[in-house]
Amino acid sequence: MKCATSVLCTLLILCQIIGRSLELSHDFVPISEEILSKCEDKPEMGYLDEFADFSHFIRKRSSSGINISGNITTKWDVSPSDIVEVDVTILKLEGNKWKPTAFKGNVNDLCKSFYDKNTIYYPYTTQHVVNRKTVKEKCINTPGTTLLLEPFVLKISFSYAVPLSVGRHKAVLVFSAIDKAGVKRPRDTCLEIVGDIVNA
Ligand SMILES: *[C@@H]1O[C@H](CO)[C@@H](O)[C@H](O)[C@H]1NC(C)=O
Ligand SMILES: *[C@@H]1O[C@H](CO)[C@@H](O)[C@H](O)[C@H]1NC(C)=O
Repeated sequence: MKCATSVLCTLLILCQIIGRSLELSHDFVPISEEILSKCEDKPEMGYLDEFADFSHFIRKRSSSGINISGNITTKWDVSPSDIVEVDVTILKLEGNKWKPTAFKGNVNDLCKSFYDKNTIYYPYTTQHVVNRKTVKEKCINTPGTTLLLEPFVLKISFSYAVPLSVGRHKAVLVFSAIDKAGVKRPRDTCLEIVGDIVNA
């Protein structure tokens, strides 16, 4: 099995194991129904409004998680030939400071692995894209591409073996585009997901 990074890979395997068994696990519960928020300490980076149109991305908290439906249209002003890299950092709130955790990962070429079932995000995102063919071709680096989502319930669970503990955490996702010449575009896009890790 091919994995983007060993950490993501480990986490994914643990998620899959937990998915198949009835072992105790942790849930990650976003504090806001909106799920995504602006990166507090990265004001120089672009935010969701530059990245895509989320006005038809419908999120509603329910007893089983957050119900998602609707569509997302990309707006990110990069070139379809760019490579998209994603860096993920997970921080924990200790006292009133965000401290890094042992968890860090990155996806080298998001568009290449968009529909790879062995990615950490697959069960939460691309698995639910209905117009797969178009999205596979256009990915998120072709402005104006609409991702049509089938309705699904977002629930993020993982095993105790993942090096994260109960408490408030945030995942910081930085999207970078790299042009054909291998040069990184000047403006990255950043988004955060703030939530609580709780015992399931
Ligand atoms: C996106 O969702 C909105 C609101 O539900 C809908 O009006 C629109 O037709 C959808 N767009 C596409 C391309 O399906
Ligand atoms: C959320 O989805 C679940 C499962 O599909 C469904 O039972 C529930 O009615 C939905 N809730 C809302 C608020 O849409």
